[in-house]
Amino acid sequence: MVAFTLPANSKITDGKSWPAPSGAKRTKTYKIYRWDPDSGATPRVDTYQIDLDDCGPMVLDALIKIKNEIDPTLTFRRSCREGVCGSCAMNIDGTNTLACTKNMDDVEGEVKVYPLPHQPVVKDLVPDLNQAYAQLASIEPWLKTTTPAPERERLQSPEERAQLDGLWECILCFCCTTACPSYWWNGDRYLGPAVLLQAYRWIADTRDEFTGERLDQLEDPFRLYRCHTIMNCTKTCPKGLNPAKAIAEIKKLMVERKT
Ligand code: SF4
Ligand code: SF4
Ligand code: FES
Repeated sequence: MVAFTLPANSKITDGKSWPAPSGAKRTKTYKIYRWDPDSGATPRVDTYQIDLDDCGPMVLDALIKIKNEIDPTLTFRRSCREGVCGSCAMNIDGTNTLACTKNMDDVEGEVKVYPLPHQPVVKDLVPDLNQAYAQLASIEPWLKTTTPAPERERLQSPEERAQLDGLWECILCFCCTTACPSYWWNGDRYLGPAVLLQAYRWIADTRDEFTGERLDQLEDPFRLYRCHTIMNCTKTCPKGLNPAKAIAEIKKLMVERKT
């Protein structure tokens, strides 16, 4: 398991506390980061007791229950509830993961929930990922070609298609990028593991005709080479992908084209 530091504004106070409903026999305690930067107040951690006999099994179930029944001011992102949209990424029990696929039974004791680390906070559990989104746009994550489009489709052999396995499954949750120490310190210039995995997804696509230009764009001391193979990214990916390997493949191609 990988533990991460808290958001940059580390002056956090104890906040409000909500007891379990009367009659609850099995309870779980949630400690949740709360901060509204517009309020001028310092961040706090609120405590909620959840009745486990009246709640779904996932951390996201508890957050939705809190918002619907206990404290409507709690703010977080979610959409699909089945691990495919990436919007419920947060730091749970010290690890970046998806709240909708994290079973609360897997957390011993209190469940501590924080936003993805080292990003500005919009409110509570919602990080500002605009920098990461702009970096994703910069690598032009779509098929680029110069040859005329065929009548039906650009074909691949099964072997060529298999080269995209382990890449296309990325849901852009940015758990990996916000777990990467190199991104914490140089996020304005280093693209980070999620965007580099996406870059490699298009470099590895045999239908794409801009491989050289894509590599040229990454040939930079910061954009690619700030990765120091610390591997936090691969350890934390909730989809079991290996961004560090994708980055290593890009570096290998950089060397091969020079020899
Ligand atoms: S392997 Fe590279 S991208 Fe992954 S956490 Fe380490 S420095 Fe960051
Ligand atoms: S590689 Fe994994 S952790 Fe990183 S953005 Fe994609 S799905 Fe999320
Ligand atoms: S709500 Fe979509 S991944 Fe969790």
